[in-house]
Amino acid sequence: MNIMSEAAVEKALDQKMNTVPYKMIGKDVSVYYGEKRALFDVNLNIRENTVTALIGPSGCGKSTFLRTLNRMNDTIENCRVTGKITLDEDDIYDPTIDVVELRARVGMVFQKPNPFPKSIYDNVAYGPRIHGLARTKSEFDDVVETSLQKAGLWNEVKDRLQEPGTGLSGGQQQRLCIARAVAVSPEVILMDEPCSALDPIATAKVEELIHELRSNFTIVIVTHSMQQAARVSQRTAMFHLGNLVEENDTDKMFTNPDDQRTQDYIMGRFG
Ligand SMILES: Nc1ncnc2c1ncn2[C@@H]1O[C@H](COP(=O)(O)OP(=O)(O)O)[C@@H](O)[C@H]1O
Ligand SMILES: [Mg+2]
Repeated sequence: MNIMSEAAVEKALDQKMNTVPYKMIGKDVSVYYGEKRALFDVNLNIRENTVTALIGPSGCGKSTFLRTLNRMNDTIENCRVTGKITLDEDDIYDPTIDVVELRARVGMVFQKPNPFPKSIYDNVAYGPRIHGLARTKSEFDDVVETSLQKAGLWNEVKDRLQEPGTGLSGGQQQRLCIARAVAVSPEVILMDEPCSALDPIATAKVEELIHELRSNFTIVIVTHSMQQAARVSQRTAMFHLGNLVEENDTDKMFTNPDDQRTQDYIMGRFG
């Protein structure tokens, strides 16, 4: 009989996870808002086709780090990023990078569902239109249907595609935003507390969806809910006061973390 010790099993799992290639590499990433430094030399790599959860107390820099991954920080006045972030081989802060194209490769879903004041159809067709990914009516129909399928929304909306997206329930609106992000075939999808405005049933649906999306996309999700991180992610990164405290396999993170601060946080001792 071959009985592996717990430590050996853990090591084997870690090694399995450790063979997953990096989709994005963050090296010595620091972020300043004017004089205020919000991130301190963060070294965090994002694995391909993996859900990575960013956790930690409010104000620790989760959203700030997430925004560095598709240069959403560029839109914030006074915000400065140092260090290096690559997507595959590309340095995303290189001055020659087309930021619009970058954000098509690294899409984003926000805390509050924010569909455009347009029809359900046009919400999804918008990205493919501006990026020239579809030309004919049937190509648009195709990408709209496929994207709504991937977002688990097709069956609920297929008979009312011309109705406004804002008329959907909160949970449906958030899945519409996910469909909109998916429509341009991104490689990475960033989600900043995507369920915080949703009820438990809508939350469960979005969480299930995140699970499914992992086979086609690399996902980074900020969540203030440790239960959610444990449910949806394979890797978890814990931030505290602008520092990356620990990044680990999610199972290990929630059972046997390496860092005392992670231990204290998951035990509810702060934050
Ligand atoms: N636009 C901004 N201008 C100035 N300071 C900001 C801005 N956004 C975030 N901060 C500050 O940066 C720190 C990290 O914030 P944030 O990344 O939003 O944390 P989290 O998402 O973990 O709650 C906080 O101290 C916050 O006040
Ligand atoms: Mg935040």
